[in-house]
Amino acid sequence: MDERDPLATFRDRFWIPKTTRGEDCIYLCGHSLGLQPKTAGTAIEQELRDWAELAVESHLRGRNPWIRYHHLLTQKTASLVGAEPSEVVVMNSVTVNLHLMMVSFYRPTKARHKILIERGAFPSDQYAVTSQIRFRGHHPASSLLELIPREGESSIRDEDIESLIDREGESIALILLGGVNYATGQAFDMEGITKAGQKKGCIVGFDLAHAAGNLRVHLHDWGPDFAVWCSYKYLNGGPGCVAGCFVHERHAQSWELPRFAGWWGYDEATRFQMGPDFHPMPGAEGWQVSNPPILALAPLRASMEIFAEARMDRLRGKSEALTGYMESLLRQHESPHFSIITPAEPHRRGAQLSLRIRSRGREICDRLAAEGVIGDWREPDTFRVAPAPLYNSYLDVYLFAQRFLAALAT
Ligand SMILES: Cc1ncc(COP(=O)(O)O)c(C=O)c1O
Repeated sequence: MDERDPLATFRDRFWIPKTTRGEDCIYLCGHSLGLQPKTAGTAIEQELRDWAELAVESHLRGRNPWIRYHHLLTQKTASLVGAEPSEVVVMNSVTVNLHLMMVSFYRPTKARHKILIERGAFPSDQYAVTSQIRFRGHHPASSLLELIPREGESSIRDEDIESLIDREGESIALILLGGVNYATGQAFDMEGITKAGQKKGCIVGFDLAHAAGNLRVHLHDWGPDFAVWCSYKYLNGGPGCVAGCFVHERHAQSWELPRFAGWWGYDEATRFQMGPDFHPMPGAEGWQVSNPPILALAPLRASMEIFAEARMDRLRGKSEALTGYMESLLRQHESPHFSIITPAEPHRRGAQLSLRIRSRGREICDRLAAEGVIGDWREPDTFRVAPAPLYNSYLDVYLFAQRFLAALAT
C-alpha cells in the first residue's frame, strides 16, 4: 500500500521525531499537534530576516509585506474548508474566536435562549459557552442543552440530534457542535444539523478544531452561520498557531450585529486614516481585532502550501483507508479489555480512533511512548490515535497495531 500510495512522498516534507535508537517514531498524534513541515523554519527565518534588515519597513517593503501577510493564507484556507475567500480569516485562537462569534451570534431572548452542545465537548468550548450564557444574564442550568449518547453507547445518533432539535428548536438560540468530537472521534453530520437547526430558526456554528485538514468540509454550501478551528492539529501550523474563522456570506454586511471590535477589523481601505468611528470590513475579516502575529503565520503558510499540493480530497481518501486499516487490525482483537468507541462508519469519523482500555491504560500508553509509539491518553480510559494521511504510512499503522496489542497482552 505504501508503494502504491501517490501521497507517500509527502512524509519526507515533515520532521519525524526519532526514538532514542534513532528510528522514526510512530507518530499518531496529529489530532493534538501536527508535525513540523521542513519548510516551516525557512518561512519563519525569512520574516526574522526582514525584521532584522528592514524593521518597521517590512510592513510595506518586506518580501511578503506584513500589512497584507494574512491575505497570503486566505485562498488556501477558503478552499480547505469549502468557503468563499471573503468568508474566512486566520486570527486569534479557537476559544477567542468562539467568544467573538458568540458575541455576534448568540443573542438570547426570553423565549429562545438555549445553546445546544454535545456532552463531552472540549472543555474550553464548555467554559466559553457557559460563560457566554452567564454574560447574557441567563443560567447554564436552564440555558445549556446537551446531547448525550444513549445508555451503553459512546457516540450520539444522528436521529437523536435531529429529534432534539425538532423538539427543542424554538427555545434554542445557538447550536454549537464540534465537527469531530475530540474524545470519541465522532464526526457529526454538519450539513444535516445545519438544515435541521435553520428550519427551526436557530443560529448554527461549528468548532472544527478536529475537522479542519481532516474531513472534507463545505462550509459555504452547508450554510452554518459561523465556524472556528485551530491550525496546530491536522493543519501542522505549530504549537499555539493562529486559528481560523468562517462567517457565512449572508452575514458579510450585517452591520447591525454586535461585535467586539478592534482596529484590524476596520475596513482596510481606510484603516490607516485612524478615524474615531468603527467601520468594519465586509466579510469575516471584519471580525479581526488585532494585527496578526507574522512569526506564527509563517509556518502555517508553509504547511498550507503542502496541503494545497496534496489536496484535501486525496488526503481524505487516504485517511479513510489508513484508519480503516487500523480498525481492521485492532477489531480482530477486541475483548473485554479494550474496545473502539469511535463510530465504525467512515463518514461518521475522521482520522482518529479512540480506544477504551479497561485497566492499566495509562501504563500501556506510557510504555508505548517510551518505545516511540506516540498517541495520547485522555482520562479516565481513552487512548487516542490518529494516522495523519500527510505523513503517516500504512507501515506505521501496522507497527502500531502490533505493538499496541503486544502491550495489551502483557
Ligand atoms: C475542540 C477544541 N476546541 C477548543 C480548543 C482550544 O483551542 P485554543 O487553545 O486555540 O483556544 C481545542 C484545543 O485543542 C479543541 O480541541
